[in-house]
Amino acid sequence: NGTRFRESYRPQYHFTPPEKWMNDPNGLLFYNDTYHLFYQYYPDDIVWGPMHWGHATSKDLVAWKHQPVALYPDKLGYIFSGSAVMDLENTSGLGTKENPPMVAIFTYHLMEGETAGRNDFQTQGIAYSLDEGQTWTKYKDNPVIANPTGIRDFRDPKVMWHAPSQQWILTLVAGDHAKFYSSKNLTSWEYLSDFGKDIGAHGGVWECPDLFELTVEGSDEKRWVLLISINPGAPNGGSGTQYFVGDFDGTTFTTAQKDIKWIDYGTDNYAGVTYNGLPDSERTFIGWMSNWNYARDTPTENWRSAMTLSRKLTLHKNNDYYLKNYPVAAINDYSYGSNTYKKITNNYSLTSANFNEMRIDFEIEGALHDFELKFSNIPNDQLSLGYDMEKDVFYVDRRRSGKVNFEPRFAKKVHEAPAITDGNDKTTFSIFMDASSIEFFVDQGATAITDQIFPNEPYTVMTFTSKKHELKNVKVSKVKRIWE
Ligand code: FRU
Repeated sequence: NGTRFRESYRPQYHFTPPEKWMNDPNGLLFYNDTYHLFYQYYPDDIVWGPMHWGHATSKDLVAWKHQPVALYPDKLGYIFSGSAVMDLENTSGLGTKENPPMVAIFTYHLMEGETAGRNDFQTQGIAYSLDEGQTWTKYKDNPVIANPTGIRDFRDPKVMWHAPSQQWILTLVAGDHAKFYSSKNLTSWEYLSDFGKDIGAHGGVWECPDLFELTVEGSDEKRWVLLISINPGAPNGGSGTQYFVGDFDGTTFTTAQKDIKWIDYGTDNYAGVTYNGLPDSERTFIGWMSNWNYARDTPTENWRSAMTLSRKLTLHKNNDYYLKNYPVAAINDYSYGSNTYKKITNNYSLTSANFNEMRIDFEIEGALHDFELKFSNIPNDQLSLGYDMEKDVFYVDRRRSGKVNFEPRFAKKVHEAPAITDGNDKTTFSIFMDASSIEFFVDQGATAITDQIFPNEPYTVMTFTSKKHELKNVKVSKVKRIWE
């Protein structure tokens, strides 16, 4: 591991596969004090190919241990995205009550079907493990949800236990909408309802849904949240994840929401979903830190792409609902060697051997005015972020951040996010920078911008400019490497 994980651009505290191609997180499941992360994986190349499920485990959502590949393609198709549950009551009969099965629910993508011009090439299958995910058996009567009506895009099942109706609920996407199903045993599924044809963003196909309940912070109000990834059609181009806040009664999802809400305004947080097996107060999300616009072109050699930091999702309401996503508290245990500065004023520069393995936290007091933080290095790559008062947006500008020409859309524009904050007197900011990514959060994830970056050398200088502001309580910390 040692040398491999010192390769250029290899993230030091984000999850990456040991080698080869990775895309979506799959089967996020917490069981027996262990976090399981499965992922779309092609073990033979650094571009997308016949999909498998890779597997890793963690005790704290930050450091990961690689596990054997969990699911291999078979005659029903490639193994596309999906979810996993612990069937504790053995409702499926695939294990016993004493040794309940871990069940994975995924999409089978039948390449031959697609090449033959058929539309029914995506179906849903299951597999189970009786040894906590080490070895897997495919269910003998797959597929469990066939596709007789021939819906072309019919995939990414997310299953959860719905306590009020005492049944499993499955959400999948069908092109331009989501479909809900129910089951008593995970093997026979009944169609319930559709959602979304006439609402939300539709610039591309809907993918990777997730449905869960959250309590609005500081109240007793409960709401259901539906995450939907879409590609293309994201606000800054390509792939992105929108969400709906509404209600789910066990059959139908409804919402009064009119506007389109996005979880992240960077271009590199896609197909994110949340853990099963955790209480709603610990709703935890992981996204794929890439974008279908250029995922296969990024300048890494032995592996491709990383996951976002594990992030906690919380629901808030000011005038309107907004979902925050912010790195889980465990990341604080990995932050060390902090330098703190009571304030930083206009044109002040800090230097460091390597800003690419750091986190930076700071505050700004009073109403927001223009400010910018610029990271640079000796070859004069520049990565900027800040606030633009006239437009009322936060932004990340990676147009001159290093290697940017591998695909024209990578550096096409500044990534702007409408400024969502808690509206307090003081605004808080956090930046997590790794070898090839920046995650920028305002007010603990009220606004989030996640972007890949490929500087020619690590950034060594950080310059602050603002005519109006000082940065207060600045804390610059190193983040421990997870792959030693
Ligand atoms: C999202 C996605 C999913 C699909 C998987 C295939 O990135 O397109 O809809 O299941 O990737 O790898």
